Amino acid sequence: MDVSSSVFDTLIDRSNMSSDKWSKYPESVIPMWVADMDFDSPGCIKSALNQRVDDGVYGYTHTPKALIEAIRAHLIKCYGWTVSAADLVHLPGLVCALHLSVRVFSKEGEGIVVPGPVYYHLTKAPLVSGRELIGVDMVIQDGRWLPDMAQFEAACAQSNSKMMLLCNPHNPGGTVYTKAELLRFHALAKQYDLIVVSDEIHCDLILDDLPHVPFASLNQDAADRTITLMAPSKTFNIAGLGYAFAVIENTALRQTFKQEKAGLIPSPNMLGLAAATAAYEDGQTWHRALLVYLKGNRDLIVDRIAKTPLKMANLEATYLAWIDVSALEIEDPFQFFLDAGVGVSNGKDFGNPNYVRLNFGCPQSILDQALTRIEEALIKHHLM
Ligand SMILES: Cc1ncc(COP(=O)(O)O)c(C=O)c1O
Repeated sequence: MDVSSSVFDTLIDRSNMSSDKWSKYPESVIPMWVADMDFDSPGCIKSALNQRVDDGVYGYTHTPKALIEAIRAHLIKCYGWTVSAADLVHLPGLVCALHLSVRVFSKEGEGIVVPGPVYYHLTKAPLVSGRELIGVDMVIQDGRWLPDMAQFEAACAQSNSKMMLLCNPHNPGGTVYTKAELLRFHALAKQYDLIVVSDEIHCDLILDDLPHVPFASLNQDAADRTITLMAPSKTFNIAGLGYAFAVIENTALRQTFKQEKAGLIPSPNMLGLAAATAAYEDGQTWHRALLVYLKGNRDLIVDRIAKTPLKMANLEATYLAWIDVSALEIEDPFQFFLDAGVGVSNGKDFGNPNYVRLNFGCPQSILDQALTRIEEALIKHHLM
């Protein structure tokens, strides 16, 4: 059955749902910050949840075999990547696995190489655990955000370097790394013997006709040194249900990870397991329709922004637009947007205060309204 775009056009009142997104700002502000979408979840997920709730007994629950098989089938079908059931580690979220990986696979004072601006937990994980954050500047090359390779090499070559943290597709830049680019990153990881943590949570949100290549799928050496982190949460809008997974093919790394996780990180929530199973088994039609809708939203932003002094590199993936506001030469871009009635994420939190991140995972009428507010504010302040 087809999923009509009207599903995504529907306005859903989230004001009584304890939504992080909708409770941060006054009612007059359109919230476009934290990365969840304002869309109704796919019917298959709602049915699976209803069924599980109707069971009435909510005791300790292990990962169902159906979910393991659905994940394996998804990885083969979408990325040609074969992993075994034993390679999977099931988690209540991805961020805890990022922090845990840094603490388990590096020591205090060791260096963690992180290309950025990037989703803030990739830089926070080294910083809060006393590791050295070795930042690598992402720069726009041929319209796409990519790490400066000279800096990347120097960072990896630093004598205390131990790990590389990647975000692919990149949040907030929206880059989908090509196989050739990933092979260059891998060559560095291999040469300097770095463990790689690859956050691939946005891998099913590619808007252009581009393949996602899991870093660990590049070759045997990459598989042996990589912890891949994925989840259905962004794609199917189920972040509140708490389910993510790691793929760790190297047995020694996986055993250490599992051992250190035990007692600290709980098992995934049983409703998260039910939702994830339904998503990977039956969510494809909804997912395809979502991508078409998000692409329409992305194209609308590109179109409207081109008529203003704001700028944006090619956004190949995610529903998060990384917008360059430097041409406005204003002191506090985040506040400027907020005063205009649009609650974006502050670029400062990702590593560049001259940017804001705008979440366009919302009905197009809301996006249109937000863009109009931004345009009107620019006109009012004689900035366009
Ligand atoms: C790159 C990236 N990793 C991880 C997360 C959050 O993962 P989780 O909610 O599973 O902890 C986000 C959420 O925005 C993200 O963008």
